[in-house]
Amino acid sequence: MSTTFQLDTSTSRAHPTPTPLRRLSIPAVRQRKADGVTTEPVVMLTAYTARQAQLLDEHCDLLLCGDSLGQVIYGLPSSLQVTLDMMIAHGAAVVRGSYHAAVVVDLPFGTYEASPEQALASATRVLAETGCSAVKLEGGAVMAKTVTFLSQRGVPVMGHVGLTPQAVNTLGGYNARGRSAAEAEKIVSDAVALDQAGAFAIVIEGVVEPIAIEATKAVACLTIGIGASNQCDGQVLVTEDMLGMFERVPRFVKRYAEIAGVISSAAESYAANVRARSFPGIEQTYQPK
Ligand code: KIV
Repeated sequence: MSTTFQLDTSTSRAHPTPTPLRRLSIPAVRQRKADGVTTEPVVMLTAYTARQAQLLDEHCDLLLCGDSLGQVIYGLPSSLQVTLDMMIAHGAAVVRGSYHAAVVVDLPFGTYEASPEQALASATRVLAETGCSAVKLEGGAVMAKTVTFLSQRGVPVMGHVGLTPQAVNTLGGYNARGRSAAEAEKIVSDAVALDQAGAFAIVIEGVVEPIAIEATKAVACLTIGIGASNQCDGQVLVTEDMLGMFERVPRFVKRYAEIAGVISSAAESYAANVRARSFPGIEQTYQPK
């Protein structure tokens, strides 16, 4: 468990009822990396619902309400169909379900790329309507101006480089990046541009390990790896992947549970009980007094 886990017994005008735990702030998480060294790696998992957030909260520094919810929750073919309203509904649920981790919410495709002003309008809605602590957006140097614009106006920004799923149509698929010299150079220079623009952290996704390490060394801010390297300053996984909810998972996912099988066999037992009229039993029915 993180050493930053603290009970909060104080009250204030904004919090007349004490919340059980003090939520980590973005500056506190950012300070984990100083002079290029991260003493305690940052733990991040995705969360899309209040109950999921409750279960993950005490173990995580950051909860990411990612636009991967398009595929994971809604069964969409990619994250491109995810809307700002969907992110706000799920982001708010994650904030309601957590007290400790700082919550980061993805800005979905089409809600921030046009201009820094468009990004600020979207980020303002996300922060105000969910209560989250930061937003994440995809893209490197091309988004640097926007990252500066947002961070100078009170919006902490997490960047995302390498395999950026919102760009699947220009990348041509979900393969690992950084295998050619040109791609490798771009990933590192994108990370540097985001760092210099004021991002507090950068997700490095699906990048060959030496380039993920090089990018991590090249930036002052935190790097959060997924399919990257354990030398990144932190790690993130899609929670459903690491729980074993899907049969097919990418190579970089380690399965920490086999939840799909647990759910399927529970449903099988329930179905058998219903068909045999052994559910509900005496314990689950109301009898006259
Ligand atoms: O949308 C998401 O869940 C993400 C993570 C995989 C980093 O961006």
